[in-house]
Amino acid sequence: MRKIRVGFIGAGGIAQAHLRALQNQESIEVVAVADISRERAEQTAQRWGIPHVYEDYHEMLAKEDIEAVNVCTFNQAHRQPTVDALYAGKHVLVEKPMAATLEDATAMTRAAFETGKILMVAMKNLFAPHIVAAKSIVDTGKLGDIYYAETVASRRKGNPGRTFIKKETAGIGATADIGVYCLFDALYLMGWPKPISVSGIANNYLSKLSEPLLYTPWARWNPEDVTVEDFGVAWVRFENGAVLVFKTCWMMHMDTLGPTFFLGTKAGLKLEPLTVFHQEAGVLVNSVIEGIPTPQGDELFRLENLAFAEAIREGKPSPLPPEKMILTNVIIQGLIDSAAVGGREVAVNVPTF
Ligand SMILES: NC(=O)c1ccc[n+]([C@@H]2O[C@H](COP(=O)([O-])OP(=O)(O)OC[C@H]3O[C@@H](n4cnc5c(N)ncnc54)[C@H](O)[C@@H]3O)[C@@H](O)[C@H]2O)c1
Repeated sequence: MRKIRVGFIGAGGIAQAHLRALQNQESIEVVAVADISRERAEQTAQRWGIPHVYEDYHEMLAKEDIEAVNVCTFNQAHRQPTVDALYAGKHVLVEKPMAATLEDATAMTRAAFETGKILMVAMKNLFAPHIVAAKSIVDTGKLGDIYYAETVASRRKGNPGRTFIKKETAGIGATADIGVYCLFDALYLMGWPKPISVSGIANNYLSKLSEPLLYTPWARWNPEDVTVEDFGVAWVRFENGAVLVFKTCWMMHMDTLGPTFFLGTKAGLKLEPLTVFHQEAGVLVNSVIEGIPTPQGDELFRLENLAFAEAIREGKPSPLPPEKMILTNVIIQGLIDSAAVGGREVAVNVPTF
């Protein structure tokens, strides 16, 4: 099997997960790593046995033997390395969220169309067994037309701190950081309907309060550093008449914001535990799907990298095309824009390419 030679841009936390997952893979060889922190790039290269280190990713992109790039920078630095890599003739796997803004996501998608190179967003849920199973059920047509859904990603006290809470590095907070997962789930299972309007609210009341927990797996942060939202809710209307309620937060005084579920004209679907609700032979039936495995370790990182490499090797389209994934940015941008005008409904436009 031909090995795809990959360079990494960004050697922070998530790059380590990708690199761990790529150890001893037959189809991918990591040959270079670039980070504005030379020290971090060097430590990463040493840890994973990567031969070449760069401080300036442009030098790495000039190397002809690198076929693809894995962009693992913070959100505000997704656009430029991605666009530069595509124009340098490299295929790109970029971490989620696709970009900090819709404008950035549009520039990235345009670059993919203009260069004909593969651009894939590293969205683990595309490979998560419960989503794969849910998609397989939806694709049978069992649900009929999905006319309403609620999608949720929340933590009770899970502000990630670090580069995630500052506008200059993250650009956007919980709505994109964890919200993008449940937004992907909903759009993917609903068949990527076209959003036409969004009304939403966003705030960061709880991250602005300093109430440390005695025990927490999450980073501690300085409330003064928080310049992004930690909570966001939106009501999204689609061209096909369907409605999605999107709820996400890093912080809340509640145990749950509710389940992710889909209402169809023939059946309903709840994601956890994966259950189909329908009527059969004159009675109401709840079918719980059994035997869905829990992915172990870095398995989902491995699967997304392998799918990316296979698409390159076999000349297939992106496993998660940017013109679809950009809908997550359209909705998140709509939420932020609506929140800025007091939650009033705003029309959203899906860019065309
Ligand atoms: N898929 C997942 O499960 C998952 C989990 C956490 C984070 N992420 C995503 O991964 C991305 C990175 O997160 P992280 O936790 O690794 O952040 P991080 O802050 O630990 O690392 C980012 C790295 O990018 C480097 N960098 C920034 N701009 C650069 C540039 N122009 N050129 C080269 N290097 C540059 C920084 O120096 C830093 O080392 C974010 O977009 C985040 O949303 C994904």
